[in-house]
Amino acid sequence: MKKVAVVFKSKYGSTEKYAKWIAEDTCAEIFKVSEIKADKLEEFDTIVYCGGLYAGGILGFSFIKNNYYKFCDKKLIVVAVGATLKKDEELDDDTKGMIATYGQVADFTNKNAITPIINAINN
Ligand SMILES: Cc1cc2nc3c(=O)[nH]c(=O)nc-3n(C[C@H](O)[C@H](O)[C@H](O)COP(=O)(O)O)c2cc1C
Repeated sequence: MKKVAVVFKSKYGSTEKYAKWIAEDTCAEIFKVSEIKADKLEEFDTIVYCGGLYAGGILGFSFIKNNYYKFCDKKLIVVAVGATLKKDEELDDDTKGMIATYGQVADFTNKNAITPIINAINN
């Protein structure tokens, strides 16, 4: 069985939630980016990096960029967790709901969203 590592950086917890769901569904080991050394990842076949999106950048992604040479022969999957609205002219109910919570604490995480990521890990 392929060894999978999920590495994440999350500021407010949404990315952490997705990282934990992905790790649970794939029996992966999970690490905070601040708590892992790149060398440790050499023992894994697949690395899933999950980071929150902030001003178009993926939180903590420099860890992958700076150490890429150590695991460029592995399957690398990058998961960016953001809140970008769809470009559709007509706003759907989810989007209207998101806008309605502006300035409040809200949780829009959805476990169904990890399905294509799980497929990419397993295929
Ligand atoms: C200052 C700030 C900048 C953000 N920039 C983006 C962005 O560029 N693109 C995006 O899709 N979401 C953006 N977001 C939304 C976050 O990516 C979203 O809330 C995400 O779930 C945060 O992940 P976390 O809970 O793991 O920290 C931004 C949020 C904040 C507070």
